[in-house]
Amino acid sequence: MKVFINPNREIGKRNPMIYGHFIEHFHRQIYGGVYDPGNPLSDEAGLRTDVLEAMRKIKVPVLRWPGGCFVSSYHWKDAVGKERIPLFDKAWRVEDPNTFGTDEYLDMCRKLGCEPYICTNAGTGTPEEMSDWVEYCNLENEGQYAKQRIANGHEKPYAVKYWSIGNENYGSWEIGAKSAGEWGRLVNESAKMIKHVDPTTELTAAALTDLDWNINLLKHCSDRLDWISIHEYWDGIHQTNDYADYEQVMAYTYDIDHSIREVRGLLEAMGLEKKIKIAFDEWNLRGWYHPNMHTVQMAVDKKDYLYPRDKNDDNTKYTMADAVFTACFLNACNRNCDIVGMANFAPVVNTRGCIYTDQNGIVLRSTYHVFDLYVNYLGDIVLDLWNETPRFLSVRHKNGEKLDVEAVDLLATKFSDREGIALAAVNKDASQGCELTVEVGEAARYQVHTISGSSTESYNDVGHDEVMIQSTEWQTITDALKVVLPPHSINVISIE
Ligand code: AHR
Repeated sequence: MKVFINPNREIGKRNPMIYGHFIEHFHRQIYGGVYDPGNPLSDEAGLRTDVLEAMRKIKVPVLRWPGGCFVSSYHWKDAVGKERIPLFDKAWRVEDPNTFGTDEYLDMCRKLGCEPYICTNAGTGTPEEMSDWVEYCNLENEGQYAKQRIANGHEKPYAVKYWSIGNENYGSWEIGAKSAGEWGRLVNESAKMIKHVDPTTELTAAALTDLDWNINLLKHCSDRLDWISIHEYWDGIHQTNDYADYEQVMAYTYDIDHSIREVRGLLEAMGLEKKIKIAFDEWNLRGWYHPNMHTVQMAVDKKDYLYPRDKNDDNTKYTMADAVFTACFLNACNRNCDIVGMANFAPVVNTRGCIYTDQNGIVLRSTYHVFDLYVNYLGDIVLDLWNETPRFLSVRHKNGEKLDVEAVDLLATKFSDREGIALAAVNKDASQGCELTVEVGEAARYQVHTISGSSTESYNDVGHDEVMIQSTEWQTITDALKVVLPPHSINVISIE
């Protein structure tokens, strides 16, 4: 396979927030995940220092919180100050002690050095409750909520820039679901009040690739919105936990950016593509396993709806399939960097996250290493690239359909702050390596950083480390730059 890269043909500069993350009050993401007071591994605020360290290593640029479905019946005022009011979380049918609230979350973001991104309750909440939250976080000292923040020991405003109005309020499963018409009006009134509190905030609202919903939203609110939020989980195993196998996951990479393309088309049709960016603020190959939820008939016994959630934490299930898919999606976000400004892996800790915790430590799952590779080795300027001899794989989708997908997914980048090219090359083939010849003009040497595992089923777990980044020494380029991409591998080729 031969590819041509022209360092002068720039597609655009990617926003670092496309490597963002999401954390929800669901199962062990917060309590027992990042927030574990009393654990010797936690700091004075109860935050797991090993988790924070791992998140800093992948330079988490933005962290969306507190949900997700959780947020649609969450009231932030119960979770600030000395007296916390325990919540029966109607979204997930558990008690939330509310000991982790706004101040704890913003302390975590400060320690991570990341942007906070708060999703508000547009289910049972009101425009006033949302804008009160912005008062609490962003006003110097005016009004009761800023004064409450100061009384709670936080003198300085937090300057939270990114706010979402609602989660998936289009969905019948969502508490306080709305019709398209209701949604446009609610978002408009909420955005108005939030901007009246702090005009420097950047706002998004829940959307999806549904024309009516988005046209209504954009018709009513485009002048007040800066982003539009979309979500996608490809292997929808929320009720069944029947994981797609490696070949079926490769089928999911077919047309992986269809949601981006559809929303881009709508924004362009409405002349909004220069004003509103896409926040792909929940995405993961695997849907979260929470059986007998989001259904009309709710289970009664905890063994039917609560205890099964522990099955999300089977580390053996997060293999090279998840890593290869994650790399392909991040490539798609980079290629669409002119309109995708943020993407949030859902979630970052436990459930389907890239970091698993137990009370003794953490496991860095296969997907973690993809973020490490992309954040720390790829450039921030996306370049055009031409693949002269693309190869295709014929794979069977979970629905039985045969699909031809490109065998190798490529992304060329360079750096705005230094010389050099970095080429991401993902080989989806489960059994065949691929020899790649790279034409890039003047170059003297190259180095290859590879994640491949020993098989498609390789995974990491406690005391079991099969998946990691392995780097070659720098190699001098003599006649041509040729690299063999191992089967089921994600590679970044650094070229100078
Ligand atoms: O399965 C988890 C849920 O997926 C999130 O809470 C929600 O935002 C999405 O539907």
